[in-house]
Amino acid sequence: MSYIKTLIQPHGGRLIDCHLSEKDRKETFLKASNLPFLTLSTRNLADLECIATGVYSPLEGFVNEQEYNSIVKDMRLTNGLAWSIPVTLQVSESIAKQYKLDSEIALAHPNGEILAVMTVSSKFKPDQNFEAEQVYRTAQQAHPGVQAMLGEGEVYLGGSIKIINSIPYQDFLDYRLTPEASRVEFTRREWNTVVAFQTRNPIHRAHEYITKIALELVDGLFLNPLVGQTKSDDIPADVRMECYQVLMQKYYPQNRVCLGVFPAAMRYAGPREAIMHAIARQNYGCTHFIVGRDHAGVGDYYGTYDAQYIFDEFTEDELQITPLKFEHAFYCTRTQSMATGKTSPSSKEERIHLSGTKVREMLRNGQTPPPEFSRPEVAQILVSSMKLTTV
Ligand code: ADX
Repeated sequence: MSYIKTLIQPHGGRLIDCHLSEKDRKETFLKASNLPFLTLSTRNLADLECIATGVYSPLEGFVNEQEYNSIVKDMRLTNGLAWSIPVTLQVSESIAKQYKLDSEIALAHPNGEILAVMTVSSKFKPDQNFEAEQVYRTAQQAHPGVQAMLGEGEVYLGGSIKIINSIPYQDFLDYRLTPEASRVEFTRREWNTVVAFQTRNPIHRAHEYITKIALELVDGLFLNPLVGQTKSDDIPADVRMECYQVLMQKYYPQNRVCLGVFPAAMRYAGPREAIMHAIARQNYGCTHFIVGRDHAGVGDYYGTYDAQYIFDEFTEDELQITPLKFEHAFYCTRTQSMATGKTSPSSKEERIHLSGTKVREMLRNGQTPPPEFSRPEVAQILVSSMKLTTV
């Protein structure tokens, strides 16, 4: 099925696919077993998947030094295309010695299986403090994204990749839609306009509210929860997936919603991550992207709407996907419905504010989130999962 004519173009115009043809795959596999090995971290695996399947189009590998500098400083690739966070392959200085510039290395899954071959075209040691300040807007190591970045190693290897074997995933197999597959699915559903929703939380009432307002404007909703690495106190992806399925079955029209997982790791980079999230969703074939309050934020590092303001730093030609910006939504006891300050005249006392953090807090205290927070079926799953983890 062809999607090229009707759907939005991928970022940079071409969907990247780093998988080798069957013939090349066999040859490369034989060669790879004699190459220096690099065992990928959980975060590297997530990035490898996103590069290989075109979620990160136009990237064809881990960034080299020039691209890295250009992204960190200017939020653009060297060819001028918008790109906000460097996708890096980092190793410790002691390990880095094994990998020579302008030579090939084998990228392996922690189980030993060779997944890809990378040509090391760049090996560099950047100023990670500067990266933190630019990308995360803080150099504080307490920031989970900065901490994860520093933990990956100080030497960066860049180069294009060729996939020999797909990552052997065990979970969410029915929901691992590549951009190619999501584009086929949107075409099958005859959706021309699709809004994507990024989340790392169980869907609460504010999420439901903004996704449904967005859905009123377009043909379909792509529910695209992030299932890569998150910080340890976020709700695990398998529990969240159960919540999404229940919610979709009961509270959304089936023919208007498509659920597919976003394999990336969470960076908690707020504004810069909102741009990266939007670009990735354009690659999935989405025309619109929801950006609400403190998108991809953590703690008090970012202002409530910083992740919306950053879109003003790009022209319409640079980002073809349209951000749909939402104000902080809450449950309004006066109108007995979800609302924002734009739609409700309520006083502070009449507003019940919802957030993933609050839901997690209630669960930790043994409380069931009330219906103003979460649908009862979702609350039930969350309460049961807490019981399991505390047994
Ligand atoms: S995120 O890290 O993936 O952004 P979360 O899953 O909480 O965290 O948010 C998903 C999306 O919903 C983001 O665009 C976020 O800005 C938006 N959002 C979350 N809570 C609210 C709220 N109460 N009002 C408006 N938007 C919200």
